[in-house]
Amino acid sequence: MELTLALDAKSTKPLQAQVFDQVREIILDGQLKAGTALPPSRVLAERLRVSRNTVMMAYERLAAEGYVRARGTAGLYVEPIPPDSLLLIQRGGLYQTNGPIPDASSEPLLCFAGSPGGGSDRPELDFWVGRSDPAGFPLRVWRRIVNRLLAKETAYLTDYCDPAGLPELRAAIGTHLRRARAVAVTEDQVIVTTGGQDALNLVFNLLKSHTRQLCIENPCYLGASLIFRSAGLTIHPTPVDGEGLRTDLLPAERGSLLYVTPSHQFPTGATMTLTRRLALLQWAEETDSYIVEDDYDSDFRYDGPPLTALAGLDGGRRVFYAGTFSKSVGAGLRIGFATVPRLFWDEARMLKARMSNGQAWLEQAALAAFIDEGHFDRHLRRLRQVYKARRDRLVAALRAAFEGATILGGESGLHLVWKLPPGFPPARQIQVMAREQGIGIYALSSGAAFDFDAEANDDMLVFGYSSLTEAQIEDAVRRLRLMLGEHAAPANP
Ligand SMILES: Cc1ncc(COP(=O)(O)O)c(C=O)c1O
Repeated sequence: MELTLALDAKSTKPLQAQVFDQVREIILDGQLKAGTALPPSRVLAERLRVSRNTVMMAYERLAAEGYVRARGTAGLYVEPIPPDSLLLIQRGGLYQTNGPIPDASSEPLLCFAGSPGGGSDRPELDFWVGRSDPAGFPLRVWRRIVNRLLAKETAYLTDYCDPAGLPELRAAIGTHLRRARAVAVTEDQVIVTTGGQDALNLVFNLLKSHTRQLCIENPCYLGASLIFRSAGLTIHPTPVDGEGLRTDLLPAERGSLLYVTPSHQFPTGATMTLTRRLALLQWAEETDSYIVEDDYDSDFRYDGPPLTALAGLDGGRRVFYAGTFSKSVGAGLRIGFATVPRLFWDEARMLKARMSNGQAWLEQAALAAFIDEGHFDRHLRRLRQVYKARRDRLVAALRAAFEGATILGGESGLHLVWKLPPGFPPARQIQVMAREQGIGIYALSSGAAFDFDAEANDDMLVFGYSSLTEAQIEDAVRRLRLMLGEHAAPANP
């Protein structure tokens, strides 16, 4: 099969990313049918006049993301998934809504009270989920940028800025999303918010009057469940398995709003497969539904390349993307963002103006400079190494202490799950026992997450490892081993 690709040697986008994007596009458009062989990397490289390595890297990524599969030494073949019918999702263009785009709502937002991640009675070794490393905050650079801004641009402190957020920051976020997540948004689709929670709230309020029922992963992120549960609408808690949300169990009725965490399901850690991602988009088209993709910790991926976000596959039609800097830089900044399909931009900006009239200038300006000057990328590269080492240490320690411990969701993000084997006490009991030993580990219904059916999933413990040092992680697992003595592997002589 001839592949017609047009590479731009002058583009800032690496050649292998251009090859990946274009082949992926061809597959998604249905031009390359399931079972078709890709041209050998040598042949394509010669035709494109690029190095074979460039094509091989693109091919490896296509295979890692499930678009193609190797058949022994025979080459790479387009996967039967995505099924051809799923490829017919119309891409690009504007979507016509059923009715007027909704007004902001006056629903009260419930707040977190006494989370174990806050308060003074925190356990000594706390695996509370999703806390960035306090020692990892880029304080020196941040201070320098803030001082520079305060020396020059104080007029902004006494003025209002755009309610959608500082244009420089929105542009920097757009660039980051296009590069890192393949989400093709521009600055006039990005709304800066007070953390990810505010982004979820914004999208929910924007779509509320369009929505007849709410769908949410089960188990799920507590913050999202708080918004949904306070809405007074029917909720469909939809089960999650190792491939992410069970798309086959979504309701067939029209007009849903679905909350989903495809990159690293919160809390189970599953990565949603490409088949399911496409099935989800198809479901949204067929049922005239919208999706909020919460991509809260996708800057951290340790094994394999990052997966294209759902919003990247959707092409700006049905998916609202919610992001946060709480994990990648620090929760105390309270900066997050939502991206909206173009048709919703004016209403989203107006809603944000009604809700809070924008965000504080100084933090936004500092973050924009932090990203633009390359510090953010460097910071992420450094933190990925630190967190990967912590993850490795935790996995190794748990596997050594509890022979063959089943670990889920450790490929990315800041937490993983230990699925307890049969015969172990329930997770909620272990959580209480561990607390007495000074260790914070969390069952799914602990407040870190929410479970609509807490009994059923009481065999999973969540470990957020990003804010503990490797030595602390070792120490905590040593204590757990002593605590669960009869279930632990025999100690090394
Ligand atoms: C799954 C998930 N989504 C969104 C958020 C929102 O984070 P924040 O409001 O702190 O930016 C969090 C924070 O822990 C989270 O775990």
